[in-house]
Amino acid sequence: MSKINAVITGVGGYVPDYVLTNEELSRMVDTSDEWIITRVGIRERRILKGEGLGSSDMGAEAVKELLRKTGTPPEEVEMLICATVTPDHVFPATANIISDKLDIRNAHSFDINAGCSGFLYALDTAAKFIESGSKKKVIVVGADKMSSITDYTDRATCVIFGDGAGAVLLEPTTEDTGLKDSLLQSDGFGRVHLHMKAGGSVKPASHETVDNREHFIYQDGRQVFKNAVSKMADVAVEVMERNGITSETLDWLVPHQANMRIIEGTAQRMGLDKSKVMINIQRYGNTTDATLPLCLWEWEEQLKKGDDIILAAFGAGFTWGALYLKWGYNGK
Ligand SMILES: CC(C)(COP(=O)(O)OP(=O)(O)OC[C@H]1O[C@@H](n2cnc3c(N)ncnc32)[C@H](O)[C@@H]1OP(=O)(O)O)[C@@H](O)C(=O)NCCC(=O)NCCS
Repeated sequence: MSKINAVITGVGGYVPDYVLTNEELSRMVDTSDEWIITRVGIRERRILKGEGLGSSDMGAEAVKELLRKTGTPPEEVEMLICATVTPDHVFPATANIISDKLDIRNAHSFDINAGCSGFLYALDTAAKFIESGSKKKVIVVGADKMSSITDYTDRATCVIFGDGAGAVLLEPTTEDTGLKDSLLQSDGFGRVHLHMKAGGSVKPASHETVDNREHFIYQDGRQVFKNAVSKMADVAVEVMERNGITSETLDWLVPHQANMRIIEGTAQRMGLDKSKVMINIQRYGNTTDATLPLCLWEWEEQLKKGDDIILAAFGAGFTWGALYLKWGYNGK
């Protein structure tokens, strides 16, 4: 019997309409368009406005588009995994809420939290269910409303993050396409450098935690930067080497969009020309779990069946990893 591979058969995406520019941010905190572009590479990011809207609303929009584009009826979806660090609620899972909003009933649905590497962790997990023959249609969504945990008085973090969602459909194939290799790692030493101080079981919300602004992203930017470049590049290079991929044969790198300098550093370590690197950080900033599927969404038309693609990410935890896949269809 031929081996079953898990292949992406469609991509959906969603970004909110509101555009938060560097110019607007420089009226909120002591920063400038020039500093942000030089140090981070972002010009604008999208923000989800509106009372009562959360990550699930963006996730549901991305999945709705995915179902439409792939002609998938909701009742055929067997599993839906949502990668997010900004769930609508601590519980239930945002995956359950997205499923409910789209009338996806009785699916095996749950969330994954692996910081900005969540989409990779979720994609790899989903692929295992397909490869084992246990599921045939699995949706992986990355959705984050980072504006809900961003402190707009902290200039070192508020310039970085934005809101968005992206989703892919995974299906079985016996062709030589789909997920070929994955290398996902974590080390909790990094947890002190990027986290939210309060709101969990160790420090539940109180008047004091709110007064101390402890429900926002805390980040030691230099530590995160240093680790992100080395760890993301290390795993990406290892995945290239053990699959016999070279900088010439690789078609695309899809890097997590955290900072333009991190992206450039990673591409450089892999010996890659920038023309092979998907970059949209200028327009969306760091949307955490949505960066990778939003890149695939924007580049989908240019992708060809058989393209060799490496996805790489780094995030809170610390978590990091790289996936190698062979694209399954010609741009549509
Ligand atoms: C946060 C980050 C952009 C800061 O850039 P940096 O070049 O490392 O800057 P530093 O932290 O060394 O700070 C340099 C100076 O810039 C200042 N600065 C920080 N943010 C600024 C801003 N938006 N505008 C102007 N100045 C700013 C700092 O206050 C510091 O000033 P000081 O020297 O007077 O103290 C950068 O460290 C980074 O991108 N880190 C990784 C973040 C990331 O990827 N997070 C998500 C992980 S998935």
